[in-house]
Amino acid sequence: MAQKKTREKWGTKTGIILAVAGSAIGLGNFLRFPVQAAQNGGGAFMIPYFISFLFLGLPLMWVEWTLGRYGGGFGHGTAPGIFHSMCKKNRFIKYFGVVGIFGPIIIFIYYTYIESWLLGYAFFSLIGRYKGITTQGAMQSFLSGYQGLESNQYFGGIGWAYTFFLITFALNISVIYYGIKKGIEKLCNWTVPILLFCGVILAIRVLTLGTPDISKPSWNLVNGLGFLWNPDFAVLKNSKVWLAAAGQIFFSLSAGIGIVMTYASYLSRKHDVVLSGLTSATTNEFAEIIIGGSIIIPAAFIFFGPTEIINIANSGSFNLGFVTMPLIFQRIHMGGVFAFLWYILLFMAGITSSVSLAQPVVSFMEDEFNVTKRRAATILGVITFVLCQAPILLLGKGVLDELDFWGGTFCLVLFATIEAIMAGWIFGIDKIWDEMHVGSDMRVPKVYKFIIKFITPVFLLLILGFWVVQSGVPALLMKNVPAENFWYILFTRIVLLVLFITLCLMVRHAWRRKAKEVNG
Ligand code: ALA
Repeated sequence: MAQKKTREKWGTKTGIILAVAGSAIGLGNFLRFPVQAAQNGGGAFMIPYFISFLFLGLPLMWVEWTLGRYGGGFGHGTAPGIFHSMCKKNRFIKYFGVVGIFGPIIIFIYYTYIESWLLGYAFFSLIGRYKGITTQGAMQSFLSGYQGLESNQYFGGIGWAYTFFLITFALNISVIYYGIKKGIEKLCNWTVPILLFCGVILAIRVLTLGTPDISKPSWNLVNGLGFLWNPDFAVLKNSKVWLAAAGQIFFSLSAGIGIVMTYASYLSRKHDVVLSGLTSATTNEFAEIIIGGSIIIPAAFIFFGPTEIINIANSGSFNLGFVTMPLIFQRIHMGGVFAFLWYILLFMAGITSSVSLAQPVVSFMEDEFNVTKRRAATILGVITFVLCQAPILLLGKGVLDELDFWGGTFCLVLFATIEAIMAGWIFGIDKIWDEMHVGSDMRVPKVYKFIIKFITPVFLLLILGFWVVQSGVPALLMKNVPAENFWYILFTRIVLLVLFITLCLMVRHAWRRKAKEVNG
């Protein structure tokens, strides 16, 4: 029988909390959240947002930490093995866990590319590459030129974007190559405190902008914050707002996707999961609401005013981050430095999230196929490098959005639902409750026993149902795909299907192999 390796462990308690917080704090906090809030009722958005946090995000966080640590005890760091350990008598249960490896890897494929734009823009801010561009239209051309969507006076091709992608990709794979303790933990120990510090500096800079243009006294901070936070309670009747809030919580917390499970599988059994889960979730909320809510929307309001901000907020997160923000920084004293801080902050937030997205598939190879972590990282690097070419080279054909739709939306809700049912019903609420409190530094309020068993799964099934009707069916029928993108989207879906089936076959092969080893 092959010798089973001992699994790595996190070096310190703070190390894993920072790693989970680093996975959670990402582009979702600083770009996605403020735009979602501004588009979905401002302050009123915070009602479904907090409800989703309390009834979905937090319980799923505790469940993932608990199941991860539990599975780690059996030598499994990903959902197929963890689900199998929870219910050995059902041989199909492990296949549900494939979603928990597939989803993160799909997100990783496009997330790393977006992350590389941040590194590029940090560099451009330092060298003044976009200096002198003063209109939204021209800055949009700068971005399109950079992305290779058009050849213009700013960029003649995708060369710059590709170079920054190569650097970003190599950095990600190197961190994974060094493993949990020497790679991810070390990275997060440094970057998470630095990025929080940069975020606070930037938030203070925006909050002290006052009224830069005295001829427009209403373009001020108070009105800017008011634009984001004044509640429009009428939106609460709209199911889309509730879906948006729940989606934001999942995306932002990195909950319900399988990442936290993998990280927690490297804990020892006596390590607390309750207080650690709560600390990482609240750190993410601080970064999201306090820092994320204080930067881009208020700054855009102050410089573009109450009419233009509506178009800006509706133009989406990328426009705000890569078109509006560079324009704003040019109007601030020492704007190049603040712009550099902004993009480096986002880049650090991005890389601590992307390495966490890549880790499940690496752990899967290590745990289920006895592959060394370095070899697993190399295999991951080769395969994802090939897959990354699709969102890079076919960006204008809607491939990146397609990956985001399946990986960043559908798989999140699907896996969260599977996980909630597994925890509350298959494993059993009493068992998960006891397991959660092994070695815990605090007790979870008892009401969460009821929430984990009933509210979270029902809430998730409702969201999944709404999602399937509203978006899933039209998407499957390719209703909103422009005719010229049809073949690209179809090709992307075929590749995704092949990847999913391959993962299922790998699970089957791994378990057959193990059965053979056991039977001699
Ligand atoms: N949780 C990560 C983010 O917010 C994926 O970007």
